[in-house]
This record gives sequence, structure tokens and C-alpha cells, in this order.
Amino acid sequence: MIEVKGLGKAFGEHCILKDVSVDIKEGELFSVIGPSGTGKSTFIKCLIRLLRPDAGSIKVDGQEIAATSNEFQLAKVRRNFGYLFQEGALFDSLTVMENVAFGLKYLTDLPKSDYPRIVKEKLALVGLEGVEDQKPSELSVGMKKRVSLARSIAAEPKYILYDEPTTGLDPVTTGMVKDLITDMRAKLGVTSVVVTHDLKLALEISSRVAMLYEGVFVEVGEPAKFRQSENPAVKEFMEISDLSRK
Ligand SMILES: Nc1ncnc2c1ncn2[C@@H]1O[C@H](COP(=O)(O)OP(=O)(O)OP(=O)(O)O)[C@@H](O)[C@H]1O
Ligand SMILES: [Mg+2]
Repeated sequence: MIEVKGLGKAFGEHCILKDVSVDIKEGELFSVIGPSGTGKSTFIKCLIRLLRPDAGSIKVDGQEIAATSNEFQLAKVRRNFGYLFQEGALFDSLTVMENVAFGLKYLTDLPKSDYPRIVKEKLALVGLEGVEDQKPSELSVGMKKRVSLARSIAAEPKYILYDEPTTGLDPVTTGMVKDLITDMRAKLGVTSVVVTHDLKLALEISSRVAMLYEGVFVEVGEPAKFRQSENPAVKEFMEISDLSRK
């Protein structure tokens, strides 16, 4: 379980997260939506301490990590996480095989001889075959995204953080990624946090949806309840997403 309380993060004068609190329970698929620049990526980067919050508490399975500088403790907590970077963050000089296998050494105790099998398995899950020996520069944007996804699920972590998993993908691949995220939850009991500006996707796949706006979650609820929100920012976001009730 991930327990976030009073989370705050500023960049210089810019206060991005003011007071974010939420408990993300085992097996949940929790989505954070909001317009560009509201701090969605900042939020999930704080969850695995790629960023250090200025205020508040983050407990992962009871361990407080918000302010710790104990790298050993952080490394141990991070072992439970898969992370899909918004930018993909593939290593250009490594092959697809090496990229997907990258975390296995740190995140698992599996023998190296198992890596090719695992990599192929995960690539198949995201609909890629025969690209193991290629370099990221030889792939399309959508293919790179899928390679990044395969990497984030390679070690079958307990928690997966997806930052904009479907941005830049065509409708068919978007459907595939959507199924993958829901399958990871259904089949492996993974707890997921999905950051997206795609409200339709969030409402379809999530157990709960939160809207981040002006540094706080202005609404948190199950999709059906979320749709009924009277919050003006949520209503406006529904309208621009063409999901308005009217
Ligand atoms: N490392 C940083 N240093 C300074 N400012 C930053 C840094 N990271 C993010 N910001 C600023 O914080 C704000 C929130 O950024 P963030 O990337 O979290 O937004 P977002 O909701 O993920 O946006 P998008 O939907 O475009 O991905 C932005 O104004 C951004 O410029
Ligand atoms: Mg972002």
C-alpha cells in the first residue's frame, strides 16, 4: 500500500504540489488526470523518490521514504516498482534486448540465462516480435513506447507507475496497452498508478480516478462517482474531453 499525506513540491518559486493526500491500496488501478503542466509527472516521480518532496509523507508498505537520504533503503523500496517514463528513457546505445533486460540484474535474482526468454515474453505482451537486436533509433515512436512498457513490467513488480502510457500511440496500440495495464492488474495483482491526460482511458480502466489541479486532488473517486463531480475544474475537463454529461 502507498500512503501519501500532505505531499508538497516546489521548483524554485513555483509551488507545483501543495497538499496531496491519498491512500493507494493493494491491487488498485489508480489514475491521476489533469491538464498539461499540473504536476502529474512530478507526483509519480515523488512516489519513487526520483524527486525529493519538500513536505509531507510517503509510506510504501509502511516504510517512510519522503525525506530519507538512505540510498540503501530507497534501493530496496524501488525494487518493488516498475516505472514507465513519459519520455521513454531508453538507452540509445543498447539494443532492445539489453534495454528490456536492463533492470533484471538489479530487480531480480534470476540467472542471466533466463533474460532472453523473459524479454521475448514481455515484448510479445506489448505486440513486438523480432526487434530484439535493433537499437531504439531504428524504431518508431509507438514501438519505443512499447519497448519502454516491456521494460517497466519485465521484473513483474508489485507496483507499476505508468506516465502517459498511451500518448503518441495509434488507436490499435492504445487498445493493446490498455488491455496490458488491466491484465497486469487482473493476472498478477499488480497495484498501478497511471498518469494520463486521457480522461476517457482513465474512466475506463481505473478503480479510482483523481484530478490534480492547482496542487491538490480536487476530486478522487470511482469512475461512476467521478463523472458526477460538481467540481468546476473536473466539469471543465470533462467538457474539453468531450465526456460531458450534457
Ligand atoms: N525538474 C524541474 N525543474 C523545474 N521545473 C520543473 C521540473 N519538473 C517539472 N517542472 C515544472 O513543474 C510543472 C509541472 O510539471 P509536470 O511535468 O509534473 O506536469 P505534468 O502534469 O506531468 O504535465 P504533462 O501533462 O505535460 O506531462 C511544470 O510547470 C514544469 O515546467
Ligand atoms: Mg507529465
